[in-house]
This record gives sequence, structure tokens and C-alpha cells, in this order.
Amino acid sequence: MIKTIGVLGAGTMGHGIALSFALHGHDVTLYDTEPGALAHAREQIAEELALLAEEDFIAPADVPATLARIVPRTDLGAAVRDRDYVIEAAPEKLELKQRLLGQLDALCPAHTILASNTSSLPLAAMMTLLDDSRKQRTIVNHWYNPGHLMPIVELSFFGNMPAQIYKEVEDLYASIGKQTVKVLKDVPGLVANRIQQGVAREVFSLIENGVAEPADIDKALKFGPAFRYATTGQLEVADFGGLDIWCVVGDNLLKDMDNSPRANALLRRKVQEGRLGVKSGAGFYDYSGKDLGEIRRTFMRKLIHQLKASEYYA
Ligand SMILES: NC(=O)c1ccc[n+]([C@@H]2O[C@H](COP(=O)([O-])OP(=O)(O)OC[C@H]3O[C@@H](n4cnc5c(N)ncnc54)[C@H](O)[C@@H]3O)[C@@H](O)[C@H]2O)c1
Repeated sequence: MIKTIGVLGAGTMGHGIALSFALHGHDVTLYDTEPGALAHAREQIAEELALLAEEDFIAPADVPATLARIVPRTDLGAAVRDRDYVIEAAPEKLELKQRLLGQLDALCPAHTILASNTSSLPLAAMMTLLDDSRKQRTIVNHWYNPGHLMPIVELSFFGNMPAQIYKEVEDLYASIGKQTVKVLKDVPGLVANRIQQGVAREVFSLIENGVAEPADIDKALKFGPAFRYATTGQLEVADFGGLDIWCVVGDNLLKDMDNSPRANALLRRKVQEGRLGVKSGAGFYDYSGKDLGEIRRTFMRKLIHQLKASEYYA
């Protein structure tokens, strides 16, 4: 059974991953090459725990105990040598991940399962420095941001790993309240990001073509398809609506919709102008003069409420 956890990379994803395991009683080491990143992660984790307590998601008394379960490390050997499961959430660079997994192979006990949080790199290419027995214990586990609130973790089952080791990982995630998606083929973006990009491509195209204002397009998504999607998947929705209807509407609409193989031109122009979204004060909406910390807290509060209301919340 997997008990001890190591997380490598204390950035956007790594700190949330560490927090998720600590919230469920796991002892977690959090490693980063930058000591400043570890200090920043600790501040973020403390803020996120405070918000969880404020929203009655956890008891206030659990805050210090959870924080104490996450031990910062700047020495890789000390971070991983007694770990059952080690997740790398380091930058998305193939050579870096190859080298890191190779180092882990040498530093970790033989039973340790290695996991990569990669968003886009092929598992086989990342494992080139691993021997066959470690390859059987190496998996892609793709979390969603913010990791401590989003319930999904996609797991690779690409043929390198025996079913019983996969089951151990699946059970681990079930025990911390995550919904796992078993992905059978190593395709870029796995499943969830491909679905998201499909929706995003049409949304950006609708704005570019002036079909509706940004707020109305977001309303159409939030109170239309996405309202159902939180509880009912696309294939269930199709079965409810009738596959014959989906077939006719698909034939009528799809030929008129965006099928570009590149990121949207309007999106690219905004990036060139430095309008990057909340972090730069403007994107599709204007955030100038607003408290960006409060905007982020409101975003997280909504996810906490959704998680509490979710039938899948464990
Ligand atoms: N940001 C997202 O929404 C998101 C979602 C899912 C998956 N991912 C994936 O997760 C991984 C991490 O992304 P992120 O957004 O957290 O990046 P990030 O830049 O926020 O954090 C990366 C951290 O890794 C540290 N680092 C650099 N070299 C390292 C090394 N050799 N060993 C350990 N740590 C090292 C950096 O100092 C930094 O703190 C990437 O593979 C990314 O594709 C990101």
C-alpha cells in the first residue's frame, strides 16, 4: 500500500498536489531546486488551507497538522529515498524530465512508483534512462489546476505497467477523493485537455467572429452545456438526447464551425499585446484596479462550493 509521497517541483501544480495528499493524512516531502519556490509554496498552501477552513471544508484544527505533514526539501536524495510514490511536477521539458526520472531511479527504493505530471510529453520518451523493472512502475498522473480542488487525475495505462501496480495507484487516488480517468493510448493532451481545447477553439472563434460578447459566450457555456457537464458526461448527454438527433445536428453545424489546427488568431494577438488575463490585469475581461488575490480566492471559493455539492465528493 502506498503511504509516503514525494513531490518534485513546488510550483503551480506541485504545491497543490502536496496539499491534496497532506489533507488526507499522507506524509509528503516537497522538493524544489529553488529554495524561494519552497517558501512561496508554503505561503500558498497556508493561504489555501485558511480558505478551506473559512469555507468549513476542513476543521480549523486541521490546518497546522496538514501543514506540518508537508516537509520541504532541497536535497533530492533526502526527498525521495524513503518514498513509496514520487510525482515530478517540474517544468515541461523533455530532457529535464528524462534526467530527473533517471536520478529518481538511482535514488529511490526498488518498490517506489514514479509518476510524471506532464501535460504533453510522451511517457516512452521520458523513460529512456529507466531499466525495465522501473518502467513497469512509472506512470503519467495528470492533475488539473488547482490540484487540491479539482477532482480529476488522468492516469496512463499504456502497456508498460502491470494491472496490479496500476490498481495500487488508482486506489491511492480514490483514497484522497480523486476521480481517476484510465487513459489507454499515449495521445497528446490525454482526454480532458483535448475535450477542453475542442470547446475553447469554438469559444475563441465565436468571439473573433463577433457572434456574442465575452460575458454572453461565457454565460452560454456556464448555464448551457457546462451546467450539465458537471454531473452528466457528453456521452450520457448524447444518449439522453438521442443519437439520431446528435447525428443530424452534427451534420448541420460542424461544417460551419472552427476546425483550425492552430491557436486562434485573436488569442495570439492578445498575447502579443501583453493582454494575458488575470496575471497581467486584462485578457478577455478588464481586471485593472481589482484585487487579483480576491479574484483568485473567489475562483477557488466557487470550486469549493461545487466540490461540496458534488455527488462524487468523498
Ligand atoms: N499549470 C497547469 O495548469 C498544469 C496542469 C497540469 C499539468 N501541468 C504540468 O505540471 C508540470 C509543472 O507545471 P507547473 O505549472 O506547476 O510549473 P511551475 O513552473 O509553476 O513549477 C515548476 C517548479 O519546478 C521547479 N523545478 C525546476 N527544475 C526542477 C528540477 N530539476 N527538479 C524539481 N523541481 C524543479 C521550479 O523551480 C518550479 O518551482 C509541467 O509538466 C506541466 O506541464 C501543469
